[in-house]
Amino acid sequence: MDKTQCPIGVFDSGVGGISVLRELVARMPNENYIFFGDSKNAPYGTKTLGEVQKLTCADAEYLVSQNVKALVVACNTATSAAINILRREYADMPVIGIEPALKPAVHAREYPRVLVMATPMTLREEKFHALMQKFETEADILPLPCPGLVEFVERGELDGAELERFLRELFAPYKEKPVDCVVLGCTHYPFVRGMIQKVLGSRVLVFDGGEGTARETQRRLKECGLCNPSGEKGKITLQNSLASEETERLGWFLLESHQ
Ligand code: DGL
Repeated sequence: MDKTQCPIGVFDSGVGGISVLRELVARMPNENYIFFGDSKNAPYGTKTLGEVQKLTCADAEYLVSQNVKALVVACNTATSAAINILRREYADMPVIGIEPALKPAVHAREYPRVLVMATPMTLREEKFHALMQKFETEADILPLPCPGLVEFVERGELDGAELERFLRELFAPYKEKPVDCVVLGCTHYPFVRGMIQKVLGSRVLVFDGGEGTARETQRRLKECGLCNPSGEKGKITLQNSLASEETERLGWFLLESHQ
């Protein structure tokens, strides 16, 4: 059966993964996509490992039941908790995960101070420790768990005084000795990038893993002969476990936003 016309399944604990979907569409506009956000159960990053593994497997199964040709785990938390389980379960299809974009940040300056913002689970899991170990001689790497930040994005609160206060408090320990680079290690954070940059100052370089994930997805599709040969614009479907009009509106707004 020709699977090239089948959609690419993309999922996240909520609307954050739309930052990855945006990069996928920019790179491969002719592909069809189904995005599933599990906003009903967000955030994942403060749950137990077992809970996140269970939810991640359910998200993937839901997309696979809709005949997707590949799975993109547009969630750092779900990737660190369950990518190996998913790769075992769906050994016959490309399963692409995301990880904090530490490499470009480390190489952006000479021995930089790099702040890695992510959920508590991403920073606790083995996958991140292995990644950090790879670069620890080249940079001063500072992991910063950010519980509570995902909720701002889920509420559609992408700027304003409360978000600014939250971030100022979060970054207060780095005021004395400023950081050079920030890695957005959670797919929700690119949507508050403007405020992060405002609070930290324009000198700080900001990195996220969305583009690299889109590039890797394209590489895997090519390798497996799964690229859609169509020259037409593909179809994008947004689904969410909350199934509310408000969440749907937020989803489309985020997909079209340029922050
Ligand atoms: N967007 C997710 C990530 O990339 C998870 C946020 C959460 O649900 O805690 O880590």
